[in-house]
Amino acid sequence: MFTLRPERPEDGPAIENLLDVSFGPGRFAKTAYRLREGVDAIPALSFVAEEDGELRGTIRYWPVLIGGVPSLMLGPIAVLAAHRGRGMAVGLMNETLALAASLGHRSVVLVGDEPYYARVGFSRVPAGRMTMPGPVDTARLLWRELTPGGLDELTGAITRAV
Ligand SMILES: CC(C)(COP(=O)(O)OP(=O)(O)OC[C@H]1O[C@@H](n2cnc3c(N)ncnc32)[C@H](O)[C@@H]1OP(=O)(O)O)[C@@H](O)C(=O)NCCC(=O)NCCS
Repeated sequence: MFTLRPERPEDGPAIENLLDVSFGPGRFAKTAYRLREGVDAIPALSFVAEEDGELRGTIRYWPVLIGGVPSLMLGPIAVLAAHRGRGMAVGLMNETLALAASLGHRSVVLVGDEPYYARVGFSRVPAGRMTMPGPVDTARLLWRELTPGGLDELTGAITRAV
């Protein structure tokens, strides 16, 4: 059985490799990366899934502003192909979303497949409510509150938290 634990500095190369094989070398061109440039992932919410001494899953979150209001962007999240479908990603999300709520974060957004992320409480951002700093399929722009009313104030441009 895999264990979930906070990321450590020495995990860096294994995580980069996992992201490269999961998303391919074009990953840095994604619009979400415009929001990550020059900004560090939130250390407290960076977790990995480990099993048999191998790092098999990763999740990170970036701070963002939405119309100037602080929020979180979930991702990237990836699991080694040979170990998908065993609940690692859902486990990583449940663990870190609960932690984020306990740390006082109010909302999370992400770009991904709604049928999948609906499993952990995400739904589509209503049309016209937010803009990304580049091309994005708006059907894939999802959000989730972490505290009651956490989405109420969120509207406008999603920008880097710098
Ligand atoms: C997406 C990813 C992280 C899921 O990891 P995982 O550990 O296999 O996920 P889980 O085991 O927690 O959940 C798997 C379940 O979700 C389903 N699922 C996975 N991707 C899905 C998708 N895009 N749409 C709908 N369902 C999906 C699986 O069919 C499986 O269903 P089951 O439980 O009924 O068998 C993994 O497939 C991955 O690393 N993909 C490549 C990177 C990527 O696309 N990351 C997300 C970018 S937004």
